[in-house]
Amino acid sequence: MAKKIKRGVVAGLFLVGLAGVSVSVWSQQSSFANTAGTSAKARAFRAGNSSGASASATASPDADAAAAKAAFERAYPVFVSPRCQNCHPAGDAPLQGDDSHVHAQYVKRGPDGHGLYGMTCHTCHQDANIPGANMPPGNPKWGLPPAKTKMVFVGKTAGELCRQLKDPKLNGGRTIAQIITHVSSDDLVGWGWNPGDGRTLPPLSRPDFAAAMQEWANDAAACPD
Ligand code: HEC
Ligand code: HEC
Repeated sequence: MAKKIKRGVVAGLFLVGLAGVSVSVWSQQSSFANTAGTSAKARAFRAGNSSGASASATASPDADAAAAKAAFERAYPVFVSPRCQNCHPAGDAPLQGDDSHVHAQYVKRGPDGHGLYGMTCHTCHQDANIPGANMPPGNPKWGLPPAKTKMVFVGKTAGELCRQLKDPKLNGGRTIAQIITHVSSDDLVGWGWNPGDGRTLPPLSRPDFAAAMQEWANDAAACPD
């Protein structure tokens, strides 16, 4: 009992520290995104759009579809980065690390995604990351998608993933607008950019990722082939 309380206090202190660090990292990251990332992208975009637009003005009604496909292709590497795909595996065990190896300790998905029998995710994963290399990351909702809708990202091409994300039978009954809200403000998705010590970040900043997904949605969410 005493041990449990002490552990809670220690974890709590760590979390206060962690929250401070993550806020400053986040603000640095987003100001970086605003200055470097976004302006480079905005330029690339304008360049892309102007050639696309001149083609579409004359002939192609598919300009929006092309923009949507390009936007999804930009967002796609985030979905299949280790921070995201480790919780979106094809099998019934979560994955770990940058090489996405199968989770140690014989952890299984279970019907609701929170583990089987006594081996629930919350046995080890707390409400926030525990500091230190190889310590369990955390979030109040930590778990895999449920067995009935596995929402597999591992091994999907951009086109396959795009079609799956749009399908309410496969995406947890979400509209495209709800998918956009999920990727831009869900805190479990947000964990990907605050993954704890020793874990790499997804290849785009979260604002750039959310902007690409929004662009995809605005252009009627057409999918790559
Ligand atoms: C027995 C303790 C334990 C249980 C139970 C457990 N985990 Fe873990 N998990 C860990 C530890 C420790 C790590 C960190 C490993 C490392 O970084 O080397 C980890 C890492 C992970 C990662 C890797 C994060 C990343 O991006 O590298 C995922 C995903 C994960 N766990 C999901 C789950 C899910 C989902 C459950 C429940 C179905 C679960 N775990 C149950 C201990 C556990
Ligand atoms: C700790 C595990 C975990 C991590 C890490 C994780 N997810 Fe998820 N994800 C889930 C669970 C669980 C659901 C289902 C929740 C629900 O339906 O309410 C989900 C659902 C989703 C959905 C909605 C439905 C669908 O068809 O996929 C999207 C989109 C998504 N995640 C994207 C991401 C992205 C992007 C990342 C990385 C930045 C990520 N997830 C990281 C566990 C995780």
